[in-house]
Amino acid sequence: MEVRRVSLDDVQPVFELYCEVSAEGKYPARTNPPSIETFERALAEVEAYGWPVYVVEHAAELVGNASVYPESFCRAGGDRHIGFLGMQVKQGFRRRGYGAALLKAVVKHCRDTDFHTIELMVLKSNTAARSLYDSFAFIWVEDLPPCTLGSGVIDHPVRMRLTP
Ligand SMILES: CC(C)(COP(=O)(O)OP(=O)(O)OC[C@H]1O[C@@H](n2cnc3c(N)ncnc32)[C@H](O)[C@@H]1OP(=O)(O)O)[C@@H](O)C(=O)NCCC(=O)NCCS
Repeated sequence: MEVRRVSLDDVQPVFELYCEVSAEGKYPARTNPPSIETFERALAEVEAYGWPVYVVEHAAELVGNASVYPESFCRAGGDRHIGFLGMQVKQGFRRRGYGAALLKAVVKHCRDTDFHTIELMVLKSNTAARSLYDSFAFIWVEDLPPCTLGSGVIDHPVRMRLTP
């Protein structure tokens, strides 16, 4: 397993991974993935500012991604010291320790730089992710309004937080 910083060369596989996990219709509240151009712009900023975005490879195939983007990148007026976490491991490569290795890398990066808070949104039904976040001592912050997944199922997002 190789966990490493993302680079602009990873735009295509990171985009494909996001689309693939999104198409499962069970995890992100967002049903339409952003365009590849949006990924390109985001990864250019990641390279320029050194934000904590990591990928993991298995036999030279990119199989996982974990990213922390500052709130200031996600919305105008946001705090640059608060990071929003998102992560995806390719189906078929889960439960092999990739998610934990990615999360360890981004949390360390945040601790070593100037992110004082990592926040995330996870669905109550997502027991795999919730168990992973619990094991890293993320704490519950609040329940968010229900959302409808791509599959049509109604789920309940929860906001969680870690002070690395
Ligand atoms: C959540 C996700 C990133 C975990 O990645 P992973 O590579 O499978 O995780 P790991 O193998 O490193 O597992 C680490 C820990 O997570 C928890 N976990 C992972 N999969 C689990 C499952 N199916 N059931 C229960 N706990 C699980 C366990 O605590 C596990 O530790 P353990 O193996 O010592 O018991 C992965 O399942 C995924 O990509 N899911 C779809 C997208 C998603 O949910 N993203 C997060 C949205 S908030």
